[in-house]
Amino acid sequence: MVDVNTALDEAGLTNPRVREYVAHWAAITQPDRVEVVGAEDDARLIQEALDAGELLPAGEGRYYSRSYYKDTARSEERTVVATSKEDDKGVYNNWKPAAEMTELLTERMRGASAGKTMYVIPYLMAPPGSPLEAYAAGVELTDSRPVVLHMIRMSRVGASYVDNLEDPDSFVRAVHVTGDLENLGQGTPEDQRYFATVADERTILHYGSSYGGNALLGKIAHGLRQACYDGRASGAFLAEQFMLLGITDKETGKRWHICGGFPSASGKTNLAMTLAPEALGDRYHVEFYGDDIAWLWVGDDGRVYGMNPENGVFGVAKDTNEKTNPTALDSIGEGSGVIFTNVAYNPDTHEVWWEGMTKNPPEDVTGWQDWKGDLISERAADDTSPWAHPNSRFTTTLANVPNVAGDFEAPAGVPIDAIIFGGRTSDREPLVRAITDLAEGVYDGLTLGAEATFAAEGVDGQLRYDPMSMRPFMAYGEGDYAAHWMKIIGAATDRPIFAHVNWFQRGDDGHFRWPGYRENLRALLWLARFKDGEVTGRQTPVGVLPTEEELELDGVDITREDLDIILTIDNERWRQEMGFREAHLKGFDRVPEEIWEAHRRVSAALDAEA
Ligand code: GDP
Ligand code: PGA
Ligand code: MN
Ligand code: MN
Repeated sequence: MVDVNTALDEAGLTNPRVREYVAHWAAITQPDRVEVVGAEDDARLIQEALDAGELLPAGEGRYYSRSYYKDTARSEERTVVATSKEDDKGVYNNWKPAAEMTELLTERMRGASAGKTMYVIPYLMAPPGSPLEAYAAGVELTDSRPVVLHMIRMSRVGASYVDNLEDPDSFVRAVHVTGDLENLGQGTPEDQRYFATVADERTILHYGSSYGGNALLGKIAHGLRQACYDGRASGAFLAEQFMLLGITDKETGKRWHICGGFPSASGKTNLAMTLAPEALGDRYHVEFYGDDIAWLWVGDDGRVYGMNPENGVFGVAKDTNEKTNPTALDSIGEGSGVIFTNVAYNPDTHEVWWEGMTKNPPEDVTGWQDWKGDLISERAADDTSPWAHPNSRFTTTLANVPNVAGDFEAPAGVPIDAIIFGGRTSDREPLVRAITDLAEGVYDGLTLGAEATFAAEGVDGQLRYDPMSMRPFMAYGEGDYAAHWMKIIGAATDRPIFAHVNWFQRGDDGHFRWPGYRENLRALLWLARFKDGEVTGRQTPVGVLPTEEELELDGVDITREDLDIILTIDNERWRQEMGFREAHLKGFDRVPEEIWEAHRRVSAALDAEA
C-alpha cells in the first residue's frame, strides 16, 4: 500500500478533506507512488518527461508531445453528466444516475494506476481573490506526467490553493486515470472510456484518455461542466465557453470588454488574441483576457462582470501563421515553455510544422515525421493526409501572450459591454447583427447553429445546434439553462448588448466571403459604437446590421458581391431556419415563455418582410 501521508506531509498539504480524498482514490487506483505537485516543480518535471521520452525537445524552452493516435480529440459520446436528480437530464448532457457512474468508474479505475505515480495537482480556476473563488478550487489526481505539465500551464497550481479554503470541503474532486490506451476500443461498441462529471457531488471521474480536452480536468470538466452546474445551483453565476477581450479607443479613452461563445475550433482563440489595431491607424489598443472560458456574474454596481478562470491557452495549431495570428506565434517562441501536441516534428532539427504555418510544408523532408511519428519520406506518393493532426494544439501560459491585459488577474473581473455568439455557418448568418433585447439575445444563443469541427471525435462538418456553444459542456437541461441566463443577465441594471457574428460565410467555390482573422476587429468596433449610440445601423427582422459606411473597411480585401452578401439577410433562408429552430426548441423541457415570445417575434418580423 502506497504511503500517501508522507507525500502529503512533504508537500505541507494539510487540508484534512483533501488528504482523505487522496487516500481514498489511491486505495482504488493503486499507484506505486504519490507526489504532490505545484508550479515550482515545472522545470524538474519537464526534465523527467524529456528523460522518459514523453516530451521531445522542440527548440529552446519548447517541447513536443504526441498523444495516442486514437486519442486526439474530446469524445462527446463518452462524456456524461451524472447527478442524483433526473430533472437535470437535458438533450445534450448525456445525463446518467450518479450512483451508477460512480460505481462503474470506480471499477474501471481499480488498480489501473499500478506501476505508476499518482500526481496530486491542487489548482484554482480563478484569479486569486475572485468573488467566485469558492467555486474555483480543485484537486486533480492523474497518473500522467504530461497532464501535470499541461495543468501547470493551464491553471494556477499549488498546495496553498486548497490549504486556505474557508470551507475545507469546497474543492472539486477530479480523478483522471489514463487506462491502457491501446486496449480501450475507442469508437467501437466495446468502448471502455467514460468521462463523467458527477456534478451534484462536485466529483469528476475521467477514464481512458490522455488528450488535453479529456484529461485537463481543471479546464474543461471543472471550468465548464462543473461550473455550469455550480453557477445554477448557487444562483450566482454563468460559466460559458467564451473568449474575453478588451478594446480601448486611444483617442477617446473609451474601453469596451467583449466576451462570446463560438463552438470549439471556430475562432475564439484567434479573435481574443490577435485583432489588428494597427490596420486602423493605431487608434485602438486590443487586449487579451481569455480564449475559451469565462465566468460571468453581476456586480454591486448592476453591471455584468466577467473573468477568465484559466491561466493558459490550449490553442488550435492549424492555420496559425504570421498573417492570421502573429500574437500566437509570439506566445509560443523560445523560452515560452510551450508544449505542442500532435503537430509534425523533425527529431533531427527539433522543428515543428502544421498545415497553414507556412504556405507549403518544408521542402526538404529529411527527418520529418507526421503527427503519428511516421516518416514523411516514406509516404506513398498519393498520400495527401495532413502532416499535423487537424486538432493539433499548442499549450502556453497567459503571461506569454504579448497583449495580455494588464488587469487579467484582477480579482474584480472586468465589466462586460457585449456578449457575442458565432460559429461556422456557411450561409444565412451575416457578418454581424446586434440584438438589444435580453430575451432575443438569449434566444439567439440558444439557437446557435453551426458546423461542428475536428475538436470532437467523429462530428467534423455536421451542421447542428450548439446552444451558447455549450453543447458539449452543458451540465443540465437547456430550458433551465435559458431560464438561468435570463435570471443572471436580467438582474443587471446596466446590461451588455448581444450580437451574432459570422466570419465563415462561403461562396459557391468554397472561398470565405470575409477575410476574417485580424479584420474581425472591424465588426466588433461597429458593435461597440452601436451600443454607445454613435452609429444606428439598419434594423432587420433578426437584429441590427451595420451599413457599409459604418463599417471601417479601408484596406479590407473583399469583393463587392461578397460584401453585399455578408451585410444582408436572406429572408427566405431565414424563414426556413425558423422552422428548424422551432423543432430544436420543442425538444427542450421548460423553455421560458420569454424565449418562445422572442422566437415568435422574430418569425413574425421575417414573415412581414417576405
Ligand atoms: P477556437 O477553438 O474556437 O479557439 O478556434 P481557433 O481560434 O483556434 O480557430 C480554429 C480554426 O479556425 C483555426 O484553424 C483557425 O485558423 C480558424 N479561424 C479562426 N478565425 C478565423 C476567421 O476569422 N476566418 C477563418 N476563415 N478561419 C478562422
Ligand atoms: P477550443 O478549446 O474551444 O479552443 O477548441 C478546446 C475544446 O473546446 O475542446
Ligand atoms: Mn473550448
Ligand atoms: Mn481556442
